[in-house]
Amino acid sequence: MAAETMLGKTVLITGATDGIGKQAAKEIAAMGAKVVLAGRSVERCEQSAAEVIAYSRNEDVDYLVADLSSMGDVQKLAEAFRAKYDHLDVLVNNAGAGFVRRNWTVDGFEKTFALNHLAYFLLTHLLLDMLQESAPSRVVSTSSGSSYSGRIHFDDIHLQRFYFVHTAYAQSKLANVMFTYALARRLEGSGVTANVFHPGLVKTGIFRKVPKVGRLADKLILDLRKPISVEEGAKTLVYLATSPEVEGQSGHYYYKKQIRQTVPPSYSMEDQERLWELSERMVKDWL
Ligand SMILES: NC(=O)c1ccc[n+]([C@@H]2O[C@H](COP(=O)([O-])OP(=O)(O)OC[C@H]3O[C@@H](n4cnc5c(N)ncnc54)[C@H](OP(=O)(O)O)[C@@H]3O)[C@@H](O)[C@H]2O)c1
Repeated sequence: MAAETMLGKTVLITGATDGIGKQAAKEIAAMGAKVVLAGRSVERCEQSAAEVIAYSRNEDVDYLVADLSSMGDVQKLAEAFRAKYDHLDVLVNNAGAGFVRRNWTVDGFEKTFALNHLAYFLLTHLLLDMLQESAPSRVVSTSSGSSYSGRIHFDDIHLQRFYFVHTAYAQSKLANVMFTYALARRLEGSGVTANVFHPGLVKTGIFRKVPKVGRLADKLILDLRKPISVEEGAKTLVYLATSPEVEGQSGHYYYKKQIRQTVPPSYSMEDQERLWELSERMVKDWL
């Protein structure tokens, strides 16, 4: 059993019903934290909560249901969290997916950008005052090595001219990095840190869940490219969310618990601010 180093802390984790998020929830609960799982169905949340409790022997596990591709649901998730809890020590923005075909969300946004980036952006904004009141506190966001091949298509953010699953996914994962850099700058001196990480290629359900080609993608990507286990893949998330070693560290991208450089365009403050303003405009009705 892990040392109870997170006793008294409250941690909200999105995408906690599977893969990296669920594994991290188990380990963080085992350290004594109250863990609030966010998932998109009651059934999957209940199943995941039961697994987290069984693994951690910590009964202090709760869940909230939201489809994070809908900005209205992101807003309701933040409201539900605020109604139940009075502090937040760690927010983990982790839910994510890729889509072979372009999908439009209920709000009229390209779904990859909405789920993988706008939900991180909006949820963080809506809980920021709680994080600030709970300082020292942390925001941890799950990006991907795909960010290295990403570009923010400022003139065509919904990729209407040309849509390809990797183009959309890489754009959203680069957005996670640039959002974190811009957020950390804004939070300097507040006691709230913001970091982002790449978990590695991890054997989770993310490839299998891609509609239509999922099973083939799962086989090709996972069998041929030797993915790491979910336990291994969750390590950097758990480290950033809990370790005293990163207390006060902010505005970094991590891989294997080490700070790494990201692609040169991600450091452009002008583009970070352009992305920030664009995101703010897109979610303004829910802010
Ligand atoms: N696996 C990898 O190799 C890899 C590599 C780099 C980065 N990542 C990133 O790691 C993060 C976690 O992915 P994973 O690999 O652990 O995949 P996963 O096993 O499929 O888990 C994804 C989580 O996100 C949730 N989710 C998906 N769509 C949602 C929606 N509309 N609303 C709310 N929740 C939603 C899923 O819910 P359900 O349980 O209902 O499906 C699940 O809990 C993602 O941000 C991904 O981009 C993964």
